[in-house]
Amino acid sequence: MPEFKKKLDDMVPSEIVRSLDEYVVGQDEAKRTIAIAIRNRVRRKRLPEEVRDEVTPKNILMIGPTGVGKTEIARRIAKLANAPFIKVEATKYTEVGYVGRDVESMVRDLAAASISMVREEMAGQKEEEVEHRVEERLLDLLLPTLPKDSSTEIAAADTREKFRNMLRSGVFEEKEVEMPVDMKTHLGFEVMGSGGSMEEIQQALNSLGSMFSSSGRQKTRKLTVKRAREILHEEEMDKVIDPDKAVDEAIERAEEMGIIFIDEIDKVASRNSNSNSDVSREGVQRDILPIVEGTKVSTKWGVVDTTNILFIAAGAFSFAKPSDLIPELQGRFPLRVELKDLTGEDFYRILTEPQNAITKQYKALLSTEGVEVTFTDEALHEIAQIAHDVNQSNDNIGARRLYTVMEKLLEELAFSADELSGQKVDITKDYVRKRLSDIVEDQDLSKYIL
Ligand SMILES: Nc1ncnc2c1ncn2[C@@H]1O[C@H](COP(=O)(O)OP(=O)(O)OP(=O)(O)O)[C@@H](O)[C@H]1O
Ligand SMILES: [Mg+2]
Repeated sequence: MPEFKKKLDDMVPSEIVRSLDEYVVGQDEAKRTIAIAIRNRVRRKRLPEEVRDEVTPKNILMIGPTGVGKTEIARRIAKLANAPFIKVEATKYTEVGYVGRDVESMVRDLAAASISMVREEMAGQKEEEVEHRVEERLLDLLLPTLPKDSSTEIAAADTREKFRNMLRSGVFEEKEVEMPVDMKTHLGFEVMGSGGSMEEIQQALNSLGSMFSSSGRQKTRKLTVKRAREILHEEEMDKVIDPDKAVDEAIERAEEMGIIFIDEIDKVASRNSNSNSDVSREGVQRDILPIVEGTKVSTKWGVVDTTNILFIAAGAFSFAKPSDLIPELQGRFPLRVELKDLTGEDFYRILTEPQNAITKQYKALLSTEGVEVTFTDEALHEIAQIAHDVNQSNDNIGARRLYTVMEKLLEELAFSADELSGQKVDITKDYVRKRLSDIVEDQDLSKYIL
């Protein structure tokens, strides 16, 4: 791991590929294409303006069977990206009532992502100042305001420093304090969680805001110090950031460096539009078209021009073909990359290599119960082989098969882990065979279980 995260803008293609390698096994061609596309945007930014306007990004279409890493690549790019990035599912726009209206929301979401990214960055530069202010405000909440005559002043300052040390050591974390909370900004996110787009949440918040506005938007609440700190941190962050500068920077970044990943594009592809749902799917394609082509979308922060946004679309295309997309849309995705079916050897690597590899996850989970699990190399090969075989004999669901196989393999262990606390468990080839071979051999059974 690099010591500090390099910004995506500063990464050359080989570095982008290498960081993708930490999570995604194989699929080199797709990684290369995306890395080049991302790098080209940085190159473009360095061109003189007359030339720059001529160079628009080449959008990418990723094609590959289910469960081979399309979405995973997107997810990893998102984590790397200090470029504004969002991922949407094309199917989302086919829901009744959404057609035609809401496709532009992807651009608004991108702008929102850009805004919060720029805000974080700007606040990061003033992190010390923000933390200091938050600490002072927490101390104000914790300390009863002492009368300010000169005899008590020194004692008060003394107490404050004592409290400061205690606060820093963490003893107050669960203590409750009372503070006024702005209902509009802080209530909504708790209630609504992460469902819905940022735009939808924002709309809901606005209506919540008006709901409360008659009774005043601030309400005194009892909160733990821990929670209060989070809220105060937000509030202080707002104060140190110049909002106009943040918005200008964010809009420019969304326009010049933004990446929109449209997943499940194949689900809106279909040629012969004779049923209702086909019409709606084709409608989605027609709606996406101008956005990919370059249009101006108004957001609450201002107008975003989509001409230079990079679009990466992905789909399994197991039923529909890329040629089933409407021709205009096909033409907007000139770069095609095909992701390959994964081999047994790939499966073996997926089990062990990625930073978040599935065997690492199970080990970590079971270690919380005091059980130390190890997998022998032979066992891992056996698991990979079984997953591969089941994919051949039943539906091919790609690497997702590893999850069902592992789940079944470790079911008993997971169930009785508490009784095994303090022990070491070796998963050997025999163990794998014993747990799984009956199921694998029985076709009908494996259809249900694996
Ligand atoms: N090449 C790979 N390397 C590492 N993990 C992978 C790879 N391919 C798939 N996986 C794992 O398998 C799961 C499914 O992969 P992913 O979501 O990328 O599938 P997909 O290609 O988008 O399929 P679909 O077309 O069904 O959406 C993920 O949890 C992912 O971590
Ligand atoms: Mg996917």
